[in-house]
Amino acid sequence: MNTPTRTDKLDRIATLAKRRGFVYPSAELYGSPGAIYDFGPLGVQLRNNIRREWWRRFVQEREDVVGIESAIITRREVLAASGHETAFHDPLVECRICHERFRADEEIPPAADHEHDLTEPKQFNLMFQTSLGPTEEGAALAYLRPETAQGMFTNFKNILDTARVKVPFGIAQIGKSFRNEITTGKWLFRLREFEIAEIEYFVKPGTDGEWFRVWLEAWEGFFTDLGVAPENIRRYEHPPETLAHYSTRTVDLQYNFPFGWSELAGVANRTDYDLRQHQQFSGRDLTYFDETDNSKYHPYVIEPTMGIERAMLVFLVDAYRDYPGGRAGKEDGKEVEAVLQLHPRLAPVTAAVLPLVKRERMPDIAREVAAELRRAWFVEYDENGSIGRRYRRYDEIGTPWCVTVDSQTQKDETVTVRDRDSMAQDRVKIGELRAFLAPKLAAAPTRAQSPTH
Ligand code: GAP
Repeated sequence: MNTPTRTDKLDRIATLAKRRGFVYPSAELYGSPGAIYDFGPLGVQLRNNIRREWWRRFVQEREDVVGIESAIITRREVLAASGHETAFHDPLVECRICHERFRADEEIPPAADHEHDLTEPKQFNLMFQTSLGPTEEGAALAYLRPETAQGMFTNFKNILDTARVKVPFGIAQIGKSFRNEITTGKWLFRLREFEIAEIEYFVKPGTDGEWFRVWLEAWEGFFTDLGVAPENIRRYEHPPETLAHYSTRTVDLQYNFPFGWSELAGVANRTDYDLRQHQQFSGRDLTYFDETDNSKYHPYVIEPTMGIERAMLVFLVDAYRDYPGGRAGKEDGKEVEAVLQLHPRLAPVTAAVLPLVKRERMPDIAREVAAELRRAWFVEYDENGSIGRRYRRYDEIGTPWCVTVDSQTQKDETVTVRDRDSMAQDRVKIGELRAFLAPKLAAAPTRAQSPTH
């Protein structure tokens, strides 16, 4: 038997994700364009849960951060001022034989039947262009935003005037961003349409070094508190030559993906670059008046950022375990049992309610229990197939608890709660189910190592 490679693992997860309705290649009917995906019922749940956890932690629970949603279509002037029009590009080379295009700054995969004959690198701007206005001639050039950050800078004065914030404070946003990436692949890792969750945190110049450290810590904590193994995350300090045009310091959080260590998220020190640029290009005063010492300045900006799909990929990869022959160790080699040990707060379905058999009053009671639990969480009712098969179905999509209604339920109003990770079963009164599960949602799951991890 061949030993599974780490890249196979990504394929196995992508296959599971498609089969179970997490992620579909977009417009597959016509042949997907690549690096654009649609999210199915379970994928939407997982994304919403990631967004909700992010928003709760970084906006709701903080006194110093406010949220906004700015527009996707961005007029050209904004991205000229920010420097994206001239500097947001990657070096592109093309093979004169097969006409495939590659990034010159990345490893170029060899062709099976020829040696690539590459053109000189030319700078390729990654922004998608569109036009504003009804006619071709009169239309103004605009872009689909390549990052959400500019919406925070162009609204800086609005926030100061309306939200009663004082430096240090942050503006947070989660929203779609678009980049016409040259090289794609690796499933959700590098997309053309994706979502960024980021904060522009405005601080007094001179305090930026300390705030950088604070945000890097907080950013890493988001992943580890939601169950990602700390040993799978490391920090990478960018050397000056790979810094973005606006940054004086960037540290990436890298994750140990099946294809190697790569960027998951990052923190950058954007200094006062963006506010100064927008002041210069718009002619509007974007300074801040600091009442604590009557000084006036452009705040420095610490920017922690992450991609929602990359976070989703990391949560899926880190939670995935599979067991050839099943967890019970049958080792018959016929069936691979997959388990997603997602944090209960991220799991797309929090609990499944299952009548042991489709007899007596079991289905009716199970439906009532499901309806009650739905008031708090996302819950499914499932009566199809053997109980073992149903447990495996829910393990595979990361459902932390299966609640089973059996013949004893009809006598004493108790159900069994089966734990995804330990497979232990507890007998719990129906009336106490919510109180039984609620504290468990706060705790991180205990992860098992699978034979193929
Ligand atoms: N405002 C700063 C900024 O946009 P970035 O590192 O270019 O920084 C932010 O992007 C985050 O978005 C990255 O840390 C990564 O998680 C994610 N990201 C970037 N490009 C992506 C792509 N093509 N597909 C999916 N996620 C991407």
